Amino acid sequence: MTSIDVGTLRAWLEEGRPVTVLDVRPMVERAEWAIPGSIHIDAYDALRAHNPAALADVDVPSDEPVVTVCAAGKTSQIAAEQLTARGLQALSLDGGMKAWSLAWNVAEVPVPAHDVRVIQVRRTGKGCLSYLIGAKDEAMVIDASLDPQVYLDLASQHGWQITSVLDTHIHADHLSRSRRLAQMSGAMLFLPDQQRVSFPFTVMRDGDTLATPHLMLTALSTPGHTPESTCYLLNNTILFTGDTLFPTSIGRPDLHADEQEARARSSLLYHSLHKLLALPSETLVLSGHASEPVPFDGQPIGATLAEIDEQIGILHTTQTMFVETLLRLLPPTPPNYERITRLNEAGLVPEGDMTELEAGANRCAIS
Ligand SMILES: [Fe+2]
Repeated sequence: MTSIDVGTLRAWLEEGRPVTVLDVRPMVERAEWAIPGSIHIDAYDALRAHNPAALADVDVPSDEPVVTVCAAGKTSQIAAEQLTARGLQALSLDGGMKAWSLAWNVAEVPVPAHDVRVIQVRRTGKGCLSYLIGAKDEAMVIDASLDPQVYLDLASQHGWQITSVLDTHIHADHLSRSRRLAQMSGAMLFLPDQQRVSFPFTVMRDGDTLATPHLMLTALSTPGHTPESTCYLLNNTILFTGDTLFPTSIGRPDLHADEQEARARSSLLYHSLHKLLALPSETLVLSGHASEPVPFDGQPIGATLAEIDEQIGILHTTQTMFVETLLRLLPPTPPNYERITRLNEAGLVPEGDMTELEAGANRCAIS
């Protein structure tokens, strides 16, 4: 074996199996995103030139496999060959970081009710966070961003049948897998109230509830990030906020909007955030994205409203100041967001390799 696929490496990292991940990309690419826990050597040009001493300085343990990684899986092969020649067990990551975009891990969220379990399913590279919420034999999924089979397998491992699939908004940074997951599982598909999508769904309006014998999800309309953005409150204790509110930042209001519209949406966001802050301060917020690649540490990413209230200073300004600050801090527009949005509005996940389309760091938040 001289190479390893993304699925195997992700499983090794999730199991905590000893492995060294050696990133051989140029520093500028690594700075954008990297595999958590990986080490780096700036040997890209030397490897491309087939310089046999390219990795002479690299110090890796000899008693565990070394997985070499580059952007697309070619230069990492040269690196793996050189390490193998040194007697190390070296494997090149197939497809490189491009393929790694679909790698994922999970973390269980501690929940006060013992009969309810919440699993945060993290697309580590893109930082997309989705949720599998199960009780007894039923489960709901929020913001599916991975191959539907991932959620189906996780649910069946817990003895759950997925009966409801929801999105918090029409996503612009990744292809929603919710429609497909609903089709494959036979679950109902719930979306916030909007006229954007061209396929059938069941609407979740402000105050609507979705109840099973053990779970109750209440929709809270929170326009701002997008006009239809909706948060879901589980059993009055856990709040799934999508891209409206993050542990240390807030959603951007400007995609598909001119300046006037962005201004109007910022005002809406101000009111939406204050609506959320009026919930009990111990409410746990679980958002739709992480700002960094998500480690394989089993630690859920989230914060209570009290912690968020303390962290995010902009929440304590006036509405005018909030809007002006937000518009000043807008990050660069994410790549391909218009095409991704069109596909999500059509409910399509095209066949083939979508990693190029979805590539790039997540830019949904303003911090
Ligand atoms: Fe978003």
